[in-house]
Amino acid sequence: MSRMIQAILTNPIAVIGAAGQLGGWLRQLLGERARTFDLPELDITDHDAVLRVLLAARPAAIVNCAAYTNVDRAEAEPDVCFAVNATAVAHLAEAAAELDCPLVQVSTDYVFGNTPGDNPPPWRETDVPAPRGVYAESKRAGELAALRAPKHLVVRTCGLYGHTTLVDQARNFVEAILRKAERGESLRVVDDQVCSPSYARDVAEAICWLLDVEITGIIHVTNAGATNWYEFAREILALRGLSVPIEAISTAEYNAPAPRPAYSVLDGARYASLRGAAMPRIHAALRAYLTWRSRALEKRNTSP
Ligand SMILES: NC(=O)c1ccc[n+]([C@@H]2O[C@H](COP(=O)([O-])OP(=O)(O)OC[C@H]3O[C@@H](n4cnc5c(N)ncnc54)[C@H](OP(=O)(O)O)[C@@H]3O)[C@@H](O)[C@H]2O)c1
Repeated sequence: MSRMIQAILTNPIAVIGAAGQLGGWLRQLLGERARTFDLPELDITDHDAVLRVLLAARPAAIVNCAAYTNVDRAEAEPDVCFAVNATAVAHLAEAAAELDCPLVQVSTDYVFGNTPGDNPPPWRETDVPAPRGVYAESKRAGELAALRAPKHLVVRTCGLYGHTTLVDQARNFVEAILRKAERGESLRVVDDQVCSPSYARDVAEAICWLLDVEITGIIHVTNAGATNWYEFAREILALRGLSVPIEAISTAEYNAPAPRPAYSVLDGARYASLRGAAMPRIHAALRAYLTWRSRALEKRNTSP
């Protein structure tokens, strides 16, 4: 048995950002192996607190799912965004080095902000990032901070949806579409951003596996395939049997404060070859989430 697997069996896995979408699923999948941290009890921008709390917890690995994730607000708050997404990752890397344990840093497809022309291949782990916008730049700086930890894994993912709790308060694309459509509102959705929206549960499950097999470096983990947000929204409506007017618009028409990549499909070949199986496909994952969501809502509505 390797030292890492032995340590995982006896020491907890520190899940940072455990109240978020991805952290919530990790907490659920790791069960008793998880030692969870989030605001307000641990603010990862506080260097001394990070060192004190993590050195006391003695985790076998640190998985950082915490982030400043409001892409548009980041344009007006670059300092806060960089403090959480970049400087705080250096604190975690320092703690991981002290503990001689791996740091798993979750990152984003947004590090690929340039437009690659017609029919581009998906981005590989070896491609050179070109982030555009405060959030993307801060996440790339966070990657670089994590890569300085002696044992590190940077997991890039995309378009996360699916929260373990508080289904109707969750902030993600699937819930935003469902909320509007269930109120009978018409939708305007961009059709010129191609990516791979991913079910947080699938990504969390992949991270658990990656932890167990001690993979290092950078790895792309998204649901397999590619779509655009307009097509994905149509799929959500169809699967839920909702019928509201939906219009395809351009990113320019949407006019968000932060830039968005036109093409940020991540190549999952490294993950698939290591694991011997690709990630679940986008549409299967969406169906799985909507089924889970219906059951979770039913359970909540029938519990006393
Ligand atoms: N969401 C996406 O579409 C997407 C796409 C690609 C990659 N990612 C990356 O995937 C990871 C997980 O994303 P997610 O959607 O699960 O995020 P999320 O739901 O927004 O969760 C992030 C968690 O981190 C916490 N947090 C924020 N600042 C913190 C701080 N200073 N100290 C400690 N905790 C802090 C948040 O607390 P509060 O809620 O109280 O702020 C929240 O509980 C992030 O690294 C993100 O950049 C996300």
